[in-house]
Amino acid sequence: MSAEAFVLSDATRQRFAVEVAKYPPDQAQSAVMACLAIVQQEQGFVSGQAEKVVADYLGMPPIAVHEVTTFYNMYNQRPLGRYKFNVCTNLPCQLRDGQSALEHLCRRLAVEEGGTTADSLFTVQKSECLGACADAPVMLVNDRQMCSFMNNERLDALVATLREHASADAATKV
Ligand code: FES
Repeated sequence: MSAEAFVLSDATRQRFAVEVAKYPPDQAQSAVMACLAIVQQEQGFVSGQAEKVVADYLGMPPIAVHEVTTFYNMYNQRPLGRYKFNVCTNLPCQLRDGQSALEHLCRRLAVEEGGTTADSLFTVQKSECLGACADAPVMLVNDRQMCSFMNNERLDALVATLREHASADAATKV
């Protein structure tokens, strides 16, 4: 599938309908974040084409959907690695070596900030405050799992564990 191709399947349409049904009939656009999350779950990212499909479905201007996907960094604008590391670099985390953690990860994985490893396993990117400043420095893995009090050893161990997971998954698929 090309990066832009997106066809609304019956199964996805049904999932959208479940989300829209949670709101009054004239408030379908309230389901926009949920619909975009479904797209990302199924495609791995939200393409411009997918934004237009969601906009059509919800009766919204495409630019309004684009504003949502670009405001929240949990939405991926392009295909990323299997494991997305969002490293907080806002001030409280900076004061506890958040930038060093980011640089360590980039060095360890041989990527620039925002880049994805050649094997498509890891993407490392900066993030705004993740709301866990007391645990600084922090990183969010795949938008769900918080990694608190990062240091180089913990980051290395996490990368090793995730690599093992990926290898084990690949082995079971052979
Ligand atoms: S500044 Fe990093 S979680 Fe708030």
